[in-house]
Amino acid sequence: MSDKIPNNVDLRSNRKLQRALEGWLPSYLEWWNEMGPEGFQQDLIYLRTAVSVDTDGWAQFDYVKMPDYRWGIFLAPHEKDRKITFGDNMGKDVWQEVPGEVRKELRRLIVTQGDTEPASVEQQRLLGKTAPSLYDLRNLFQVNVEEGRHLWAMVYLLMQHFGRDGREEAEDLLKRTSGNPDSPRILDAFNKPIDDWLAFFCFTTFTDRDGKFQLGALAESAFDPLAQTTRFMLTEEAHHMFVGETGVARVIQRTIDLMKTAPESDVKAAGGIPLELLQRYVNEWYSASLDLFGSEDSSNSATFFAAGLKGRWQEGKEGVYDDHKALTGSYRVEVPTEGGGFEDRDIPLRRAMNLLLRDSYVEDCQRVIKRWNRIFEKAGMSERMSLPSDKFNRIQGLYANMPFDLAGELLTQSEFEKKRDEWLPTQADLDYVQSLMVCCYELGEYASWIAPPRKGINGREEKFEYVKFVRS
Ligand SMILES: [Fe+2]
Ligand SMILES: [Fe+2]
Repeated sequence: MSDKIPNNVDLRSNRKLQRALEGWLPSYLEWWNEMGPEGFQQDLIYLRTAVSVDTDGWAQFDYVKMPDYRWGIFLAPHEKDRKITFGDNMGKDVWQEVPGEVRKELRRLIVTQGDTEPASVEQQRLLGKTAPSLYDLRNLFQVNVEEGRHLWAMVYLLMQHFGRDGREEAEDLLKRTSGNPDSPRILDAFNKPIDDWLAFFCFTTFTDRDGKFQLGALAESAFDPLAQTTRFMLTEEAHHMFVGETGVARVIQRTIDLMKTAPESDVKAAGGIPLELLQRYVNEWYSASLDLFGSEDSSNSATFFAAGLKGRWQEGKEGVYDDHKALTGSYRVEVPTEGGGFEDRDIPLRRAMNLLLRDSYVEDCQRVIKRWNRIFEKAGMSERMSLPSDKFNRIQGLYANMPFDLAGELLTQSEFEKKRDEWLPTQADLDYVQSLMVCCYELGEYASWIAPPRKGINGREEKFEYVKFVRS
């Protein structure tokens, strides 16, 4: 394994690609050092590295300095004789090369996906300084290096299949930066700051989960290299969502413990996070993540589906959909009218693909909420977490910038303003959470606002040293 770039794409016999990627590596490392996790680049982190795509054993755990992490290129195993499973080209062979007529659309899809990967690393770059434990610190960095690898995965596709344009796009992926007013990241949720760990756990629960569904839709693609790449990325994405979901679960657990044991059940006085505050964070990050699915009625989504570029969730799985052409049928939505009311509109199915993908996402989020609520049930408590209506707090699509309440009822702007602070994080919430953000790096110890995890990473013991600080 002396290759600079671990891979299963036979880079050694593809000199041109190898040169292009090795040429990009220094820019990537420069970006990582400038925009990646601040302050921990020389420390030894207990990380898993993808070394192959075998189902058992692709992940190797070891102590690694982050800049030495081996960002590799891995495609899920090639499926022989794979056919296109949906759209106008259904039944034909999948493509190994990019067809000229969809080149622009494919490049756009790959760049948009690729742009989110480094963006999240940028958004999270200061969180290490306030990690609630070494376990959490390690998880943050694991997510960060894997988002870095996902960028490599998209850059590989651009360089291998899009020639000179692809190389330019790869450079641009390192030029845009999250929240930069002059050259921001492409999608809104990836320009929002993630200033505290509660936001990080909500982001990895809801925004990485959007990633799961976008990658899942691309994993159905007729462009085989894209399908193979995204299928392998999905295996890593699962860990990111695990970090988010269990992170919030541990916050809930800790809050419940404090509600039962703290003097006068005063969660805040005991350094915990009140449930209403957590719910406001959930409302905010969930609604921002819904925006990532794009317009409910979208001609782009129809084009992508027709051409076979992007399918529905589990499009190719037997028994999920009867009709893979989606030429008939429609999706009924409520459209706001000028007079302040609503009217029904039927969106032809192909134009409603964003919405269908979003529905699969919402179902998945509801399962997360159910699992969180089991913690209350087990503790014999009546409190519950919930998801707001898909109309609430939107800045994209049919319901953008309209004053809906959590249940999806349209209010007047002033009614909304009166209730806003009950529904979305206030400055006082953010300040309070920030006041809790004090690092806790003692072995086996945790900050006041979060319970320990139930299991260690890779079966490690409770007091395992997930991060070894190297002081120069
Ligand atoms: Fe990713
Ligand atoms: Fe992710």
